[in-house]
Amino acid sequence: MKHLLTVADLDRGTATEFLDEAERFEQALLGREVKKLPTLRGRTVMTVFYENSTRTRVSFEVAGKWMSADVINVSASSSSVSKGESLRDTALTLHAAGADALIVRHPASGAVHQIAGWMEQWAREENRAAPSIINAGDGTHQHPTQALLDALTLRQRLGDVEGKRIVLVGDILHSRVARSNVLLLNTLGAEVVLVAPRTLLPVGVQGWPARVATSLDAELPGADAVMMLRVQAERMNGGFFPSAREYSINYGLSERRLALLDDDAVVLHPGPMLRGMEIASAVADSPKAAVLQQVTNGVHMRMAVLFRLLVGTQEVAA
Ligand code: CP
Repeated sequence: MKHLLTVADLDRGTATEFLDEAERFEQALLGREVKKLPTLRGRTVMTVFYENSTRTRVSFEVAGKWMSADVINVSASSSSVSKGESLRDTALTLHAAGADALIVRHPASGAVHQIAGWMEQWAREENRAAPSIINAGDGTHQHPTQALLDALTLRQRLGDVEGKRIVLVGDILHSRVARSNVLLLNTLGAEVVLVAPRTLLPVGVQGWPARVATSLDAELPGADAVMMLRVQAERMNGGFFPSAREYSINYGLSERRLALLDDDAVVLHPGPMLRGMEIASAVADSPKAAVLQQVTNGVHMRMAVLFRLLVGTQEVAA
C-alpha cells in the first residue's frame, strides 16, 4: 500500500491488519521508559495542515518521533502558502526537500487525492519513487486514520466490532469522521445507525450502508456504542439550524441519556468536544467515555499506518 486516502480502499483483512499492527506497537512500547523504536530511522515525514488540528497533527508527530523518523510540521499560515503558493507547488517542494511521506489536512474534499495524483505523475516522469500521501482529513470527505483508531477503541472496549450496533449522532452532513466510520464499520460487520436533525443529514444518505433515525432516546437502549460528532460551525457559513439550545435538547448526550445506555456501552467523540452542547461534561468524563483512549490509540494507529506505508508488513522492529 503506497497511500492512505480513504477507508474505501480497505477490505476487512487489511483494516484488521492495521488494528493488529497498532496493538503490536502499543505492546512494543509498553513499560519502556524511553519510547523510541528504530523502525523509521532515516525517513522524513512531513505534516502539512491547511486546517487547524490538535489530536491528528500531534499524534502523527509523536508516532513518527517514537519510530525515530525525522518529523517536520508545516502549517499553511506560517509557510509560503500564505504568499499564494499553490497546493501542487507546495507538495512538490516538500518532496524535493526530502519528504518520504506527506500527511495532509485540507478543507477541500478531494485535495489529498489530487496531491497523490500529482505525486504519482511526477514520479513517473522523473522515474523516482513518489512519497506516501496520508489523508489527515479532507473537507467533509474522509479521515481514514480517525476511523481506524475508532475501530481499534471499539474492539478494545467491546471485544469485537462485528455485529455491534454503533450509533453516530449529530452533524453527519459536514463530518468526514462520520463518512469514514460508516464505511469502515460496515466493512468490519457492524450495524450503523445515524441520528441527526434533517438539516444535518446529507442528500443521498439513504444510499449509505446505515439506518437513519431521528430520535436519540429511542436508539440508545441496546446500542453497543454511541459516537458523538462535532457540530462543524466553520462549514456552515454563519447559519446553524436547529439552534444550539434545540440541538442540545434533542441531540446532546446528557446524563439522563447516558442512563439509557446498557452498562457495557461505550461513548466515543473524535474531539474537539463542544461540552454542554454535544455532550455533558459529566458524560465526557464518565467511565463509559473512551475519548482519551481514542487519543492514545491514535498514536499507535498512526505508527501502524506510517510503518505499513513506509516499510511494509513485517513484524514490529523492537
Ligand atoms: N479528531 C480530530 O481530527 O481532531 P483534530 O482536529 O484536533 O485533529
